[in-house]
Amino acid sequence: MTAQLIDGVALSRQLRAALRERVAALNGRGCRPGLAVILVGDDPASQVYVRNKVKACAEVGIHSVLQTHPASLTEQALLQHIDALNADPAIHGILVQLPLPPHIDAQRVIEAIAPDKDVDGFHVANAGALMVGQPGFRPCTPYGCMKMLEHIGCALRGKHAVVIGRSNIVGKPMAMLLLQAHATVTICHSATAELAHHTRQADVLVAAVGRPALVTADMVKPGAVVIDVGMNRDATGKLCGDVDFEGVRQVASWITPVPGGVGPMTITMLLTNTVEAAERRLT
Ligand code: GUN
Repeated sequence: MTAQLIDGVALSRQLRAALRERVAALNGRGCRPGLAVILVGDDPASQVYVRNKVKACAEVGIHSVLQTHPASLTEQALLQHIDALNADPAIHGILVQLPLPPHIDAQRVIEAIAPDKDVDGFHVANAGALMVGQPGFRPCTPYGCMKMLEHIGCALRGKHAVVIGRSNIVGKPMAMLLLQAHATVTICHSATAELAHHTRQADVLVAAVGRPALVTADMVKPGAVVIDVGMNRDATGKLCGDVDFEGVRQVASWITPVPGGVGPMTITMLLTNTVEAAERRLT
């Protein structure tokens, strides 16, 4: 079997076209959706991510404001910037790019964002809403993965989904979204014994650990759907995921490529959440 590709670029194009229409409808009601992006420090990967987010905003007509601060910024100063953005009616979404420098408490910063502007879905109010199945912003990467599964018509009810990774950004919310879709969910992590034993049970396998080629063909059930959230550099500096793509595509039924899979979808869901934040304000 050779897996079919889940093309995150093509799906993003489709979803962003629909977002442009929602933005036009908002404009017609006198509202211009606005996203503030805060970058602290000079981490090169973060700089690329932030640039891509700002560019994507322009593509769908979202007004974006980029704040860049030196790594020496104090936590108190960052909290003051967030307070100002919370109070700014032109801003509907606030995103603080992670990771933050070690002297800043990231969780305290996230909790300072007004939950109705927390388009990353990281605030405890939004994380809690996801946990109990209430409306709220869903973290963009797992939300994008769910959109991809929906797009290929993957019926999750009763399926066994295995998530590798337990971060607050991806692994935990991914597991909650899959559970909400009635999958049976296993979460694996760095202390899991016999990882391959678990992954081989997966009808849907999501890899989100940040280790190149962690998932090899022998760890995948034939016909599984494989979602690769990894964004790593291999020994030659080439972008690669957590999945051995060439091996696993011989076994899986569907697979996301890296690049061009989950990455663009993460940004598309950030745009979606920002448009939704603006729509909510009007209704
Ligand atoms: N760093 C890595 N992924 C993310 C994300 O989705 N949002 C933010 N704010 N920072 C990140």
